[in-house]
Amino acid sequence: MLDLDDIQGLVVRGYAHLQAARYVLLGIRDPAAARRFITDTIPAITTAAAGGPGRAVHLALTAAGLARLELPSATLAGLPAEFAEGMVAPARSRVLGDVDGSATEAWAWGGPATDPIDMLLLLYAKDGGALEELARPIEAGFERGGVAEVHRLETEAIGNREHFGFRDGISQPIIAGLGRTGPAEHIVRAGEFVLGYPNEYGLLTDRPLMPADADAAAVLPTDAATGEHDLGRNGTYLVVRQLQQDVPGFWRFVREAAGDGDPVALASKMVGRWPGGAPLVEAPDADDPAHATANGFGYAHIDPAGMRCPIGAHVRRSNPRDSLDPRPGTADSIAVNRRHRLLRRGRKYGPPADLEALRSGTAVADGVDRGLHFICVNANIARQFEFVQRAWVGSPKFAALYDDADPLIGRHHPQGGTFTIPERPVRRRVTGLPQFVAVRGGAYFFLPGIRALRYIGSVSH
Ligand code: HEM
Repeated sequence: MLDLDDIQGLVVRGYAHLQAARYVLLGIRDPAAARRFITDTIPAITTAAAGGPGRAVHLALTAAGLARLELPSATLAGLPAEFAEGMVAPARSRVLGDVDGSATEAWAWGGPATDPIDMLLLLYAKDGGALEELARPIEAGFERGGVAEVHRLETEAIGNREHFGFRDGISQPIIAGLGRTGPAEHIVRAGEFVLGYPNEYGLLTDRPLMPADADAAAVLPTDAATGEHDLGRNGTYLVVRQLQQDVPGFWRFVREAAGDGDPVALASKMVGRWPGGAPLVEAPDADDPAHATANGFGYAHIDPAGMRCPIGAHVRRSNPRDSLDPRPGTADSIAVNRRHRLLRRGRKYGPPADLEALRSGTAVADGVDRGLHFICVNANIARQFEFVQRAWVGSPKFAALYDDADPLIGRHHPQGGTFTIPERPVRRRVTGLPQFVAVRGGAYFFLPGIRALRYIGSVSH
């Protein structure tokens, strides 16, 4: 049983019914006041127990933020390395591909040249007016609460299409124990997304523990195995990345590369689903509304060579489903896959592009800043988000490909990337792919359980 009262609701819900959202990145100016701010904000925080709430508030912290709040050093030392180091540590930037056009030095927030980020406030409401109403009293308390806004990320009404024009938010893992149903291969043990529960190895995912005497009031749950107090239980990690999309550049390239062919068909090969959502493995020849949200498919049996959905397509490499070694097409393969799942919670930002005009070639670049505020929930950043980003999405050698990074979001070498489309009698290679997505900011956050927030707010010296 999951402790729904203690888990922040974003873990179990994407709030599709709350069309408006804002993410406020905060710096801590006065630690004692900031601890009070956290304590005062707790009653407003939406828990996983709230069914379809009318508004939602969440609070998350970076490792720098936890240190600023003066948590015991033993606890800080127990944080996972990738979280403690942060997304912009040089070794991580190489792993994540945050170089060249995505270099951290040029980031708008979260980078080495911008103000440190300590906290993240996520606000959701049904429309822009309701969002303002929700935000106003909380934001009015920043100064008294010892925190200052470093940067804010506004989002576009959620809709169901991302900016390139493809239906998004279809495929998600299902957290076991929540009573939701779906294809068995998507049901993943809670410990992959919430700390303190068994994960896909049957173990508890590493989490920050602390000596019992650092929590004399026993605000936190006790870890049965060690007797230590568990700061991690019911918490998880958020990966937040601002991914800027060059929508005119994408459609210009696809139009030219398609030649006499259909640009939408080529773009769909790159995504692995049609704009309406139908997966290419189920609808290889044309978009098909009947398959718009289909998600019960695999690749190994129906399409082992990628004749329908290319091996390098975005969805096939960000979740290879049953095509992983050992023994593709078996339960063993799916078991490996389950250790690298991500719950996506991102939202797009910036006004939509005129896709009709871009596809037909009657519009050119509009110079508008738009993209995706990518957010994912995972209990182990290194094994889940970083692994997917590095070994699947970012690797040009993914699944025995030779030189194909993700055609939609991957980083390519300066002379352009390659996208291979298996076809008969010979495969087709699209070359010279420019980069369509650039990283403009990012950070790793701890999304604590409610008791952990209460503890963090009560640390005294
Ligand atoms: C601007 C950047 C991105 C765009 C435009 C984009 C677009 C899409 C689209 C259209 C889908 C198919 C709809 C769906 O299955 O929900 C999808 C699926 C997915 N994407 Fe992305 N994506 C982006 C970035 C990322 C990143 C950075 C990651 C992870 C590192 C990622 C991981 C996934 C995963 C795991 C799926 C589900 C695949 C499946 O289960 O079949 N995406 N994305």
